[in-house]
Amino acid sequence: MEELRVRRIREGTVIDHIPPGKALKVLSILGISGSEGTVVAVLMNVESRKLGKKDIVKLEGRFLTRDEVDEIALVAPTATINIIRDYEVAEKFSLTLPKVLEGIVRCPNPRCVSNVPGEPVVSRLELVDPERGLYRCHYCGRLVEVSEMEELLLQ
Ligand code: CTP
Ligand code: ZN
Repeated sequence: MEELRVRRIREGTVIDHIPPGKALKVLSILGISGSEGTVVAVLMNVESRKLGKKDIVKLEGRFLTRDEVDEIALVAPTATINIIRDYEVAEKFSLTLPKVLEGIVRCPNPRCVSNVPGEPVVSRLELVDPERGLYRCHYCGRLVEVSEMEELLLQ
């Protein structure tokens, strides 16, 4: 099968090995709608030796913050981040679950102090079981699975 090709970028970020179908979620995390003018390439459901299928997002002239990388790790844990400079892969890293999520994911417990309007409490979830992707709320003790976090992202 002929591979779908998108040309290499000059400077920016390539997010590769995204689970198939999750590219648009990654773009939403990055706040990219298309109207910012950033040159973006999105490949969905292309062949991957490692994953069977995968999505790829290429961002020309855009680099990611720590928080953005942490959020992507929650919805696309298999992704690799490639930082491109002068057409070369200058840095490549895979994602790991952040030990602490501060102000990134809302606690699902509606009575948690971190959900009380007017309380200056920033949500804080701590990784308690990396194997199972299990976090615990620092304030109320509620356990939260990575798989339920897509709906709980703050921003
Ligand atoms: N890439 C790009 N523009 C560049 C350099 C790389 O768009 N100037 C893209 C490649 O198309 C690929 C990703 O960045 O999707 C990583 O590049 P590279 O490390 O060269 O590819 P692989 O060795 O296949 O990566 P991996 O081992 O992570 O699968
Ligand atoms: Zn809580």
